[in-house]
Amino acid sequence: MCGIIGYVGSKETDVTSILLEGLSKLEYRGYDSAGIAVLGSEGNIKLHRRAGKIANLVATVEEDVTPELSTLGIGHTRWATHGRPNDINAHPHPDCTGGLTVVHNGIIENYAELRIELQQEGHSFQSDTDSEVLAHLIERAYFGDANHDLVLAVRTALQRVTGSYSIGVVSNEHPDLLVGARCAGPLIVGIGEGEQFLASDIPALLKHTRRVLILEEGEVAVLRPEGVKLMTLYGTEIEREPTTIDWDTEAAEKGGYPYFVIKEINEQPDALRRALTGRIRDGKLRLPEMERIEHSGLLKNIQRIIVVACGTSFHAGMIAKYAIEKWARIPVETITAAEFRYCDPIVGPDTLCIAVTQSGETADTLVGIRQAREHGAPVIAVTNIVSSAITRLADAVLYLQAGPEIGVVATKSFVSSVAVLYLLGLYLGEQRGRITAEQMSEFTGALEILPEQIQRILDHANSEHDSIEPLAKRMADTNSMIFIGRGVGYPTALEGALKLKEISYIHAEGFPAGELKHGSIALLDEHTPLVAVATASHVYEKVVSNIQEVRARDAHIIVVATEGDERIRQHADDILYVPATMEVFSPLLASVPLQLFAYHVAVARGCNVDQPRNLAKSVTVE
Ligand code: G6P
Repeated sequence: MCGIIGYVGSKETDVTSILLEGLSKLEYRGYDSAGIAVLGSEGNIKLHRRAGKIANLVATVEEDVTPELSTLGIGHTRWATHGRPNDINAHPHPDCTGGLTVVHNGIIENYAELRIELQQEGHSFQSDTDSEVLAHLIERAYFGDANHDLVLAVRTALQRVTGSYSIGVVSNEHPDLLVGARCAGPLIVGIGEGEQFLASDIPALLKHTRRVLILEEGEVAVLRPEGVKLMTLYGTEIEREPTTIDWDTEAAEKGGYPYFVIKEINEQPDALRRALTGRIRDGKLRLPEMERIEHSGLLKNIQRIIVVACGTSFHAGMIAKYAIEKWARIPVETITAAEFRYCDPIVGPDTLCIAVTQSGETADTLVGIRQAREHGAPVIAVTNIVSSAITRLADAVLYLQAGPEIGVVATKSFVSSVAVLYLLGLYLGEQRGRITAEQMSEFTGALEILPEQIQRILDHANSEHDSIEPLAKRMADTNSMIFIGRGVGYPTALEGALKLKEISYIHAEGFPAGELKHGSIALLDEHTPLVAVATASHVYEKVVSNIQEVRARDAHIIVVATEGDERIRQHADDILYVPATMEVFSPLLASVPLQLFAYHVAVARGCNVDQPRNLAKSVTVE
């Protein structure tokens, strides 16, 4: 989704480079055009906007023969929603005078009526975007006030707007002022010495500062070189202490790997360890984050659970359904957030809603959860991002502690989400008296060795004995692949298929293995390879039968199997072995070779693995 960067400082400096570098750190959010606006030495705002990658923008900026020092600027990466991704629709958007400039992330829902109103007043629009109305609304308020008070103009303009926004605004009449505002969509202020920054995301700020103020909904930030003020849209000042970010800059760099995705796949053992750290001790489970919700009595009368999530987090939620139902015997429904919101869901105080969102900013999930809260449902959030929007809607928050994930596709955050959901399932089972101390010790023991087991998969894949990359190279020209699994193997298959289509653009679908014969088997022929998740489980024999049905149709069979399973050899053309674990935990191991497979196929096809086409890291519009 769109990314915002802004800078204001007391001394003249190379603002252009600061903005371009900031934008490069936001690339992973997903975008299709980019632009910057910098205050020039003659008091003019210099705009550069280009469709495509940031490299195109850099080339345009470099053509500008007079790069100059400045004190103020804003930049933006745009993920198109209203209007094609071309130069004119790229942000920043100027007002009619060219002196005011705005960057925006979100959707202005009433933009059509505002545009007509502003056009009737004589404002002239250059782009097809919803965002441009903001520039003209602010212009109207700004020039309508004799004091040319930019903060007041921004507040006045935003009071007319419905929808979602994070914005940054600068004016050539205020070289020492950058205004930000947020109503849904993340926006963070980075506090420096004699300089301040505005950004959508932490990685864009890390080089400059670790002290940040995270804007909440309906807040305006007034950034001046000497300090930052927060206020509501109606001007009431807000006091907030800055938060210190403990991510190191290295965590947000590639560290010698060709892509963030492969770095993050390799970081999974550590990510998983961090998810478990402090939460399992001596065979016992400790979730202090649950104390408050436990004492509030909100969990006492829970009759059912709904897991609300999107994309990969949705698959994590599907795996959690199996675990929670098994351990706590509470019925669990997993629903994709975009459907949940509009299906008039039956939720109330007896329905626990679990929101799974690594970014904590996915609009569909936020909107759904907000509605569930309105119906009195208690909410537990599982997220990676401290103080993200979902945390403010939750009665309890379980953090993944996975560190920054820059690759657009979720890998380590998936593994960590699943692990945290297991812990939550064990917790609910224990609360319900359905897990004995002995069982808890067995489950936690199996969980604790998973990081080592993932490490073994990775070590093998990184060695000369690796079979995944050669297999991926052989499969790189395939047009379509089918993934199957049963029980927890089914969401594992779905996630394997999603990874492949997201980064390699090969058509891939996941099915419950037993369902394939009821229709989708018609897709199979010798040109459509099948990936079967057939790790040790109570449905292993059934999956093997399903594999045989496919084998009879000449499809190439790739099986993810448990080490020591020699029998599977007679049914498979290729086998990706994973270590043995309890059935319920098998997705955490089986997913790893599938991630590596998708990665190597994508690399073999020459795809941009870190920034797949059309995708955004966090989707902040509905
Ligand atoms: C986007 C990303 C997916 C991600 C989904 C949910 O679509 O491209 O990789 O799984 O959002 O993200 P969340 O942050 O809510 O887990």
